[in-house]
Amino acid sequence: MKNLLQSSLAKFLTIAGFALCACFSANAQTIDKDDSIYQGLGKKEGITKIVNDFVPMILADQRIAHFFSKIKKEEFSELLVAQFCELAGGPCQYKGRDMYESHQGMGISNAHFNALAEDLQMAMEKNDIPSSISNRLVAKLAPMQRPIVSK
Ligand code: HEM
Repeated sequence: MKNLLQSSLAKFLTIAGFALCACFSANAQTIDKDDSIYQGLGKKEGITKIVNDFVPMILADQRIAHFFSKIKKEEFSELLVAQFCELAGGPCQYKGRDMYESHQGMGISNAHFNALAEDLQMAMEKNDIPSSISNRLVAKLAPMQRPIVSK
């Protein structure tokens, strides 16, 4: 009798264990990260087009162009694509330097920062990104203002 009880209990625990696991894994599939900004930007392809318009805009913008005289355009563009893609919730990993390290001591002001953000908005507009999406990407960039601005 005791054996029977023990084996029934063991069976119950096994089944309960499986049920619990199934429940957790089903949950894991439903708690996917939010990639709606990434989708709204047109995924990696759309982001690449935006960056390909954005970088020449920065280089032509007399308010900030002087900062970029020595950059390697291709490398810089690739880093921006990865960074925007990751921030937008896409399947990318930004592997560049952090924002404080890469802008330290450049003398970037809030006005410079806003000029660059304005160029990015224009590049997104040019690519027909709805403002509901572009505003959300810019909001993700806002916390970077503090480590980037040093003047
Ligand atoms: C939200 C705003 C900004 C973002 C997301 C951003 C992003 C980046 C990234 C990803 C890099 C490459 C880092 C690396 O080399 O590993 C970089 C470098 C650079 N950024 Fe920014 N940046 C921002 C604002 C600015 C502003 C406002 C300026 C100047 C007006 C600026 C000037 C530069 C320059 C000159 C470099 C090249 C640094 C070097 O090669 O040593 N950035 N930025």
